[in-house]
Amino acid sequence: MKNKKTTLTLSAFFIAGLMLMPVSGMAAGNAAGKKVFLDSKCNKCHSLDAEKIAKLPSDKAAEGEGEAEENAVKPPDLSKLSDDVTKRAEGVDAFLSKFLLKEATMTHEGKEVKHKKKFEGSPEDLKAVILFVQGK
Ligand code: HEC
Repeated sequence: MKNKKTTLTLSAFFIAGLMLMPVSGMAAGNAAGKKVFLDSKCNKCHSLDAEKIAKLPSDKAAEGEGEAEENAVKPPDLSKLSDDVTKRAEGVDAFLSKFLLKEATMTHEGKEVKHKKKFEGSPEDLKAVILFVQGK
């Protein structure tokens, strides 16, 4: 008998893997913003009761009574942003992106102040965290 070569045709199964790519959902903005908020340690100064985020315990003891807190302004809970933030003609997003980069001031406890801490993450992260503090 002739030696027959069997041709195997098992090479058509490439598609399955492509169907399993993760889809980023619409709620990701909020989750991403929350992550930025926590990673940036915004909660070192701010609580955000609406999201059940408590203020981190002060690490002053560990640092040996560092900064003079007497004159310092009290960081507000961010569940409800102040009128000075929400009633800006330019809009909350535009204002906060400048404020968190210390490029704009706001009125807090009767004083015109820059933010305590300059945001150091990416522009995308800044956008996400700004939406997050607005409950978006
Ligand atoms: C070192 C303390 C500190 C850290 C860290 C900090 N903040 Fe603040 N933040 C303040 C203080 C104090 C104020 C009150 C206004 C001022 O003094 O700038 C404020 C004000 C704000 C306001 C305006 C609140 C209002 O009155 O409506 C927003 C929004 C805000 N911070 C967001 C953030 C976000 C987001 C982060 C993290 C990326 C952050 N803050 C990190 C201290 C802090």
